[in-house]
Amino acid sequence: MRIDILTLFPEMVSGILSESIIGRAQKNGIISINCVNIRDFSTDRHRRVDDYPYGGGRGMIMQPEPIYRAYESLAKGGSPFVIYMSPQGRILNQKLAKEFSQKEHIIILCGHYEGVDERIIEEIVDIEVSIGDYVLTGGEIPAAVLCDAVCRLVPGVLPSEECFCDESHYNGLLEYPQYTRPPVFMGREVPPVLLSGHHANIVKWRKEKAKERTMQKRPDLMEKFSDE
Ligand code: ADE
Repeated sequence: MRIDILTLFPEMVSGILSESIIGRAQKNGIISINCVNIRDFSTDRHRRVDDYPYGGGRGMIMQPEPIYRAYESLAKGGSPFVIYMSPQGRILNQKLAKEFSQKEHIIILCGHYEGVDERIIEEIVDIEVSIGDYVLTGGEIPAAVLCDAVCRLVPGVLPSEECFCDESHYNGLLEYPQYTRPPVFMGREVPPVLLSGHHANIVKWRKEKAKERTMQKRPDLMEKFSDE
């Protein structure tokens, strides 16, 4: 999978994604993440990429031409899937992340200041995505969040499929509680079933706990969950 991120602040995104599991997947050639500075596509003498909003109002708006030139240099006649990070977008969830993880080439556009000229959205964007109902200073952190959620679902990025079959949100439930050594910590014991070695009982216990804690912590998810 290839992801190109169009941004005015490439280091904000590349730093996060060059570490840990996603960094290793890049080094191994399983995914390729490329941060592109929109400013490199300005034709202005001062490398300007924004201007005042028509009709007045606060802040600056990112102009469409440099973004379009950056897009063209990456699309090269192909048809990448283009995501614009925006608080007006569809809220990112595990299902959407799974969908995106099946794309071959994604371009993520990050807005900054008061956003981008509407016409670039109309021209190149396939979907607007939000990471939650709050406003950040730009799309860079949301883009890093989206990349992380998507890339770890690409086959080969995590050691095995087991890594995400059990985790929260995969099957609509939150994950069961996990324990490691020591067997007793501050007087709190690890549930005995986990030490029993009885695999079927452990599976059953984990399923019950997953339902129980989803009911407690996220009753909204439980309403949507159907058992098999
Ligand atoms: N840009 C600013 N706020 C955002 C949000 N909540 N999600 C995605 N992009 C954003």
